[in-house]
Amino acid sequence: MAYETILVDIADGIATVTLNRPEVLNALNGQVFNELGDVALELGADPSVQAVIITGGDKVFAAGADIKQMANLSAVDAAIGGRPSHRAFSLIETIPKPVIASIAGFALGGGCELTLVCDVRIAADSAQFGLPEIKLGILPGAGGTQRLPRLIGAGKAKELIFSGDFINADEALRVGLVNKVVPADQLREETLKMAKRFAARGAVALRLAKSAIDEGLRMDLEAGIQYEHKCFSLLFATVDQKEGMRAFIEKRPPDFKGQ
Ligand code: CAA
Repeated sequence: MAYETILVDIADGIATVTLNRPEVLNALNGQVFNELGDVALELGADPSVQAVIITGGDKVFAAGADIKQMANLSAVDAAIGGRPSHRAFSLIETIPKPVIASIAGFALGGGCELTLVCDVRIAADSAQFGLPEIKLGILPGAGGTQRLPRLIGAGKAKELIFSGDFINADEALRVGLVNKVVPADQLREETLKMAKRFAARGAVALRLAKSAIDEGLRMDLEAGIQYEHKCFSLLFATVDQKEGMRAFIEKRPPDFKGQ
């Protein structure tokens, strides 16, 4: 599919989606959200793709939803106009493969919320995170008030959302907003390294592990444990389970087929 606001590159089983509106710090307008939703569907269904990286390049991740597009919205427009962001973020969150946010520079508002729908976040030491919507007279409207407290706890999430203040990469690591911080000039390499490590595992086991975690978080503990047990049992029907355990016993690396 042809895209205008994002770049898509697929190499060695890793798809990299790069936001591409540098003139406005990758602000996310309706077209970006629509294209992100479409590419999530496309990459999710592409058997040659084993892991996905979402990035804004080496200067900025994304400075949020496009304020110029939002400034004159009516409440009805805002209600209807919010749908592309919800569609995009829900489709990214449910890509049945590991999705890594690779973040340099600003990840603000909707940009920060985009990182929250990825499975893992790697930040360059140049990264800055924030949900500054409160300074615009609104609140985070693309899942921030829901996903951020689930990730870092309600107290810290409230501090960030109530103040609109930015935090740097080290603070983001300290509060659990990112998994790892790397020097800016190593961001691409370190992200690829992590994506390849995930991609080397069995695709069905990855898919079910992601589902067990994400679906389980929506359930009470007992229901989650039962769901995990179903996923676990199902994997004993795969070629990869036989291969993984045989390889261990034969003291060699496994050759997973994703079946
Ligand atoms: N929307 C539209 N345009 C934006 C933008 C945004 N979110 N962020 C930056 N831009 C544009 C600027 O208007 C500017 O364009 P012009 O050159 O045409 O004036 C260009 O990008 C460069 O920006 P600055 O000159 O402001 O760059 P800076 O380095 O001085 O400041 C910044 C960088 C601190 C990120 C500042 O641009 C900023 O505060 N941006 C807005 C951040 C924000 O409030 N994000 C939340 C948006 S609301 C939201 O996301 C709602 C939601 O939950 C879905």
